[in-house]
Amino acid sequence: MIEKHIPANFGAYFEPFLGGGALLFHLLTKNPSLKCNVSDLNSDLVLAYVVIRDRVKELIMSLENHAKDYQKNPDSYYYSVRENEPTNHIEKVSRLLFLNRTCFNGLYRVNSKGKFNVPLGRYSNPNIVNEENLLSVSHTLQSKRIQIYSHDFSSILGQAKKNDFVYFDPPYQPVSKTANFTGYTDRNFSYGDLEMLVDISEKLSQKGCKVLHSNSKSKDVTDLFSSKWKIIEIPVNRAINSDSAKRTGHTELLIKNY
Ligand SMILES: C[S@@+](CC[C@H](N)C(=O)[O-])C[C@H]1O[C@@H](n2cnc3c(N)ncnc32)[C@H](O)[C@@H]1O
Repeated sequence: MIEKHIPANFGAYFEPFLGGGALLFHLLTKNPSLKCNVSDLNSDLVLAYVVIRDRVKELIMSLENHAKDYQKNPDSYYYSVRENEPTNHIEKVSRLLFLNRTCFNGLYRVNSKGKFNVPLGRYSNPNIVNEENLLSVSHTLQSKRIQIYSHDFSSILGQAKKNDFVYFDPPYQPVSKTANFTGYTDRNFSYGDLEMLVDISEKLSQKGCKVLHSNSKSKDVTDLFSSKWKIIEIPVNRAINSDSAKRTGHTELLIKNY
């Protein structure tokens, strides 16, 4: 759905809320030599990309060990891995990927102390190692034209230049008082953060950048963008909802200045 809203031509690509990097990898499939500057505040996530890029073989070996131990006793092994926080880079990333593969719905959520708190998922045979995908991502990220950082989205203002393409996919604004999932990091994404994001987008726009946002269809979002932004409603299926019926039939927004 987002595909037809990608600008036909642009300089470098910026994605300051990288997460799973869906659009980054889509663009790199089409143009492996694209100049990219991608970042995320979650330093564990950024470390994962760096380790996948630089030390993928060691990472795969560590994941294979997790897979073996998990098969013996999924329940107790999952909670023992969730409890222990290794400091070694390979072990840290391997733990993150293991938990992502085996936790409830692949959700990433931490509590106010930054501790991962998602329960065990219900899988009979989770694909813990996924070697082919890891090798392919590692190969893609080895391009010297891709830079990966851990920092706040506001750093972008000093980096993006005229004609660069900036895609913002921030933690979404809640559409209702109960739908307040914004816990990707130990710092929640507030209304003030959204205001700053819109302000930065206006400044990037004045510089001549092509700016695209994804967000929820919420009044907070539509009210903050001035009339020069195009707001497009798109139907989506959500990958994450505890009630599978609620994963379909949603509308989200794409907001762009071109
Ligand atoms: C909705 S996810 C991004 C989804 C992603 N584009 C994808 O395709 O999977 C939001 C991301 O923003 C990151 N984040 C939250 N607050 C941030 C901030 N202030 N600056 C930069 N990144 C932030 C989170 O760590 C999370 O990875």
